[in-house]
Amino acid sequence: MIRSVIAGTGGYLPARSLSNDELAAEYNLDTSDAWISERTGIRRRHMAAPGETTADMGAAACREALARAGADASEVDAIILATATPDSAFPSTATRVQEKLGIRQGFSFDISAACTGFIYALGVADSMIRTGACRSALVVGAEAFTRILDWSDRGTCVLFGDGAGAVLLRATEVAGEGTDSGILSTHLHSDGRHGDILQVEGGLVRMAGREVFRHAVSKLASAVDEALKANGLDQTDVQWLVPHQANARIIDAMGRKLGLPPERVVVTVDRHANTSAASIPLALADATRDGRIGAGDLVLMEAIGGGLTWGAALARF
Ligand code: COA
Repeated sequence: MIRSVIAGTGGYLPARSLSNDELAAEYNLDTSDAWISERTGIRRRHMAAPGETTADMGAAACREALARAGADASEVDAIILATATPDSAFPSTATRVQEKLGIRQGFSFDISAACTGFIYALGVADSMIRTGACRSALVVGAEAFTRILDWSDRGTCVLFGDGAGAVLLRATEVAGEGTDSGILSTHLHSDGRHGDILQVEGGLVRMAGREVFRHAVSKLASAVDEALKANGLDQTDVQWLVPHQANARIIDAMGRKLGLPPERVVVTVDRHANTSAASIPLALADATRDGRIGAGDLVLMEAIGGGLTWGAALARF
């Protein structure tokens, strides 16, 4: 049987990084480092340079994923890119990344599932690899989120940042069902009734923060339970939690639910803020680059975002 194995991870952050105080001064915000960091865990965020596109960031993340997999762009036959901040409605950001990487074969397309986008993209790519529709896929989350923020709304503009992350998935023949490597399963959900609590309206992000918070922990907990159950696993089997990085309080709650010590939860929200679809692959890149996550480790990913959309994925590295 065929499994999608994560062959390499990559991440890219724009050069410019602003602390909470620097952001408040630059945008004349009535806020404080204490308010932001106590409620969210966010201390800094990166911001794309003028003219730096979502595709530029996505391509940079893909280059690192390919290099770390020892792969050449010529082996890639799909690019599936999740973003809420595409460079244009079309061509898709994925095809722009394809062009930047010099890839001439295969297909590429974008996925829209807001902050859950990477889990959705992983689910689609894994399904396509398992059915033989492609042999290898770059799965990308890339966002220029600071371009859709309302700088007069202190309740949202302090929460987000820019960046991109990517993984290279490779079709790998494994002996049989019991063989435990690659993407084990993905679990995708949405409920459009709650679309208005986190949305882009008139080109800018609008969020009912408390409402989103209320949905987050229960929906993430049920997606995580579903993923473990589907694989006959227990929470004690999970070695790493790589959550969507929206808010340290939500991340801590999920770590506690799984009984994981804090050092087994990958956290980047302090340095990156919420980079939407990019946050999980950026966190994966962080924790594989420094050797925390290594071969054989069982990694649980989960995310929730506008839609509402939410989901979870289990992978053995
Ligand atoms: N600095 C200072 N004060 C702020 C502020 C800021 N950046 N943003 C909001 N406030 C104020 C509000 O104006 C309000 O003041 P008031 O009581 O005088 O009206 C007060 O803080 C409380 O606002 P509220 O929005 O109720 O705060 P909260 O405790 O719910 O915290 C969030 C706000 C956004 C941090 C919190 O709701 C949250 O984390 N939600 C989840 C968001 C999320 O994860 N979204 C992404 C999902 S992908």
